[in-house]
Amino acid sequence: MLEKLRERGIRVSLDAEPLLQNAGENLIDELVSIRKPFISRQDVDEAIARLGARKVEVIRSRERPAAAEHPPDLKVVHQLDVTGKSRTTGSVDDFVAYFRNRFQRMSKLLNSPSKYPTTTLADVKREVNQNVRAICLVYEKRDTKAGSILLEIEDMHGQFKAVVSRKNEKSYEKARQILKDDIISITGKVLEPFIIVEDIEWPDVPLIREEKCAENDLACAYISDIHFGSRHFLEKQFDRFVNWLNMKGNETELAGKVKYLIVAGDVVDGVGIYPNQEKDLTIKDVYKQYELFDNFVEMLPDYMEVIVSPGNHDAVRRAEPMPALDDTLVKSDVVKVGNPSTVVIEGIRHVIYHGTSMDSMISSVPGLSYNNPEKVSREYIKRRHLSPIYGGNLIVPERVDYLLLEDEPDVLHVGHVHKNGYLQYRGTHLINTGTFQDRTDFQIKQGHVPTPGVIGILETKTSVYKTIDFNGE
Ligand SMILES: [Fe+2]
Ligand SMILES: [Fe+2]
Repeated sequence: MLEKLRERGIRVSLDAEPLLQNAGENLIDELVSIRKPFISRQDVDEAIARLGARKVEVIRSRERPAAAEHPPDLKVVHQLDVTGKSRTTGSVDDFVAYFRNRFQRMSKLLNSPSKYPTTTLADVKREVNQNVRAICLVYEKRDTKAGSILLEIEDMHGQFKAVVSRKNEKSYEKARQILKDDIISITGKVLEPFIIVEDIEWPDVPLIREEKCAENDLACAYISDIHFGSRHFLEKQFDRFVNWLNMKGNETELAGKVKYLIVAGDVVDGVGIYPNQEKDLTIKDVYKQYELFDNFVEMLPDYMEVIVSPGNHDAVRRAEPMPALDDTLVKSDVVKVGNPSTVVIEGIRHVIYHGTSMDSMISSVPGLSYNNPEKVSREYIKRRHLSPIYGGNLIVPERVDYLLLEDEPDVLHVGHVHKNGYLQYRGTHLINTGTFQDRTDFQIKQGHVPTPGVIGILETKTSVYKTIDFNGE
């Protein structure tokens, strides 16, 4: 592009040359229009300022990036998204229908071949001294005086009790992990009034599953918890990220592959989300907070597809499943989906979930902590459910349980705890994304150690995952 200026007899100062190496035509045209025979660095800076009502510069790479060469291949699985389909009134009937739906669908996932015949809890009394398998929901769990674990269980037909002896070390350890409302498979001997448990299984995903690779050599970028409007929003890190996507940083080849950007909730900080939040806000109008998101989308390369799902700070109902952000909030042309949602990108099945249930999971399951969010995601996969503890966080009892993971995801993207994490578990990428918000006083009190300014990238062809840190210069 420099040649274009030289052809016109316009000379450029040495310190301005690097800025113009990969300049787009609009910048060159702007410089020509000022009709100066000699262009200084200041002229270039001023031209960029005039052209960009934005912070990113208008310089574009000379070559078209890979992501610009491919049309988007993205399909939202609408039957797994509550948006536009919420029918509940919160009545007793709705709760019964919700649990019935959950139990029936989960039972199918648990119905793998068993060495013992499967019985219902109504028939179990007829199987005294026999070994059986039962698929059941755990509605109560407690320790006995003898040091065993007693489970009160039910299915669609009846109720019963099961005991896990401390002597059966493997099962006892598993029983410690059982959550109230877990739907599990147990095997054991019927010794009325109990089933003496031999083994316990969660639905989980198959032990061996290949990672899904796409044909096209593109990339997905994963972020969450931007918290626009917060006093603690990390503008510098965010600008670096935007510049990087515009191929103005390191690893431009990888940046040029980024065709999809997935945002897993907490787009804005919101208003009235926690006590005295006003003092943490620079923008107190939620619509203005979302305007910043629209501005951000405008700054992205035009070939990128943005998929956005809400979180507990967003302006949708607080209870899950959450419908997509509506058009009065987010006006830009992005794919708005519910929380949770399933989106197939380049043939790779993504489940996007904000992660509100992480808090109750961490406080209930032994061994989980805020430092390893990927381990919580592993529990979601093991239980094939995104909010296993009913009542642990707000849930709307829809007639279909949208939080159930019926099909195995290739990617499970979760945010909320502001901490990056990653685990490849039985062919599924468990991707936990961090934040663009600095640690708040509220988080300090809660003991959170976030990892701000770090994003996740998955290359679709090789299925390689990495993170990029935007905290440095
Ligand atoms: Fe957040
Ligand atoms: Fe959150």
